[in-house]
This record gives sequence, C-alpha cells and structure tokens, in this order.
Amino acid sequence: MAYSDLAWSAEPTYGDVFYERAIGKAPEMESSKATAKQLKGLIQADTKVLDVGCGSGHYLRSLRREYPVPFFYEGADITPHYIDLAKKAYSDDSHANFQVASVGKLPYESKKFDVVICCNVLLHLPDVARPLQELWRVTKGTLLVRTHIGTTNFRIQQVPEPETYSGKMDPVFKPNGEPRERHFYNIYSEKYIKWLFNTFDDVADVSIQRDEDFDPTALGSSQWPEDKKPSDLTEVWHGWQIHHYILQPWSFLRVTRK
Ligand SMILES: C[S@@+](CC[C@H](N)C(=O)[O-])C[C@H]1O[C@@H](n2cnc3c(N)ncnc32)[C@H](O)[C@@H]1O
Repeated sequence: MAYSDLAWSAEPTYGDVFYERAIGKAPEMESSKATAKQLKGLIQADTKVLDVGCGSGHYLRSLRREYPVPFFYEGADITPHYIDLAKKAYSDDSHANFQVASVGKLPYESKKFDVVICCNVLLHLPDVARPLQELWRVTKGTLLVRTHIGTTNFRIQQVPEPETYSGKMDPVFKPNGEPRERHFYNIYSEKYIKWLFNTFDDVADVSIQRDEDFDPTALGSSQWPEDKKPSDLTEVWHGWQIHHYILQPWSFLRVTRK
C-alpha cells in the first residue's frame, strides 16, 4: 500500500490549529516542548534538522525558542495544505524550508541531516518498517521518533462514524468486511523495534523511553473554547494519555549512527 493512499485529516480546523501554534497564537504542544528538550546538546548553529510529518511546522517554534542559533530546519509533510500554511507561518525565516513529501520515499540524499525527528506520525501508518528504514537512511547523526511503543505489538484501526446512516448501502464497512475509512493508532513492542534496528546499517545505539514529560492540565478538552475544540482530543487518565478507549504508550525512540 502506498502511503499517499492514506488521506490525512481533511478537517480544516486541524491545519488551523497547527498554524496557530506555529505563529504563537495557540500554545506550544506538550509533545513539541518535550521533543525540543530531547534534542539538548544536538543543535548548534550549523546543524541540519529534518522534521518528517511536520504539519505546519509548529515544532520549529519550540526548537527556535529552545535553541536560539541559526540552525537549518527542513519540514516535510504529505498534506499540501499544511505545507502551504507552514510556508506562510515561516515566510521570514531564511533558515527554514518546507516541502510536500512522504516518509515512504523522502526526496533527500542519504545521511543529509544531522538530526531527524518524526513525531506522532508512525502510529498512523499501516506499517512501520519501511518508514523507519527511510528515516534512518537520511539520518547522519541522531534519529528521534515519538510514537506508541510498549510491550506488545497492536494493529489498531479507528473506523470513523459516517455522516449519515440513511440509505441501504453499509456506510461503514465494505461487503468484504473491510472498513471504508480507517485511521491507524498502532503500537509496536520495544523488542520488535530493537530487532528492526539490528537489521539496519551503522547503528551505534537504540534507546526507548516513555514520554512522561507533559502537563496533564494542558491536555484534554477543558483548555479549548467550544468553537475551536478539535474533535479527537486526548485525555489523561492515571498518568497515561488515552484516546477514546486506547491507552497510548507514547515513547521517544532515539537512534544514533556510528
Ligand atoms: C498527528 S499529525 C502530527 C504532526 C506533528 N508532527 C505533531 O506532532 O503535531 C501527523 C502528520 O503526519 C502527516 N503524514 C501522514 N502521513 C504521512 C506520510 N506518509 N508522510 C509524511 N507525512 C505524513 C500528516 O499530514 C500530519 O501532518
């Protein structure tokens, strides 16, 4: 399956929220702040950073705040609308560039970037091996991925409610039982991810650490005004982020090259 087959949320509000975060009108995301902290010691003036699945470049805001040196940032995302918004948000930043690209086939030469980040993206893709291979290919120094990593592998598909149930045609599932539309929220085991990187070239170190670096009061529905509230929010329960019924083992995977 080609990744470009998977349409990302067409909801305009999603891109608007990214954009407002990018221009500082909405607060930085907890995961964006946590990612910036994770890169401590890795960003200097001439560092080249790639952010895959960058949305409207809202993580760049946290990075520029945390590292006020003129490092180069490249943002890549499969959704053209988000890239348009990113270009608008950073039109004054001569050290930032954005382009439409898929993690399945990145338009960059091997080992081009000192630091590659890919946050909150891989869980939504149908498979993880090929995207990780591609992210690793373009990494010269450190790859940092934020995704669901736990003790067990799960393939989870959210099947959205249709707008209407009228008519005779099943609006949710095809005659063969497959969902007409689905969004993945996959979880991978630590063992599987470590095995995978064992098969890649030049890996010096792989570490996986649960992301507990968030303020629970900044997540969830209470912080949003009714008219701007995204439809699919994460809540916090007993210290874990939950999405509907799914407990999310958010983790940072960090891989360094020899
Ligand atoms: C949940 S959002 C995460 C955005 C941002 N990294 C963050 O953490 O807020 C997932 C992003 O991945 C992008 N995306 C989905 N599939 C992709 C693919 N195959 N290649 C590149 N980007 C993809 C979407 O367009 C969307 O911007």
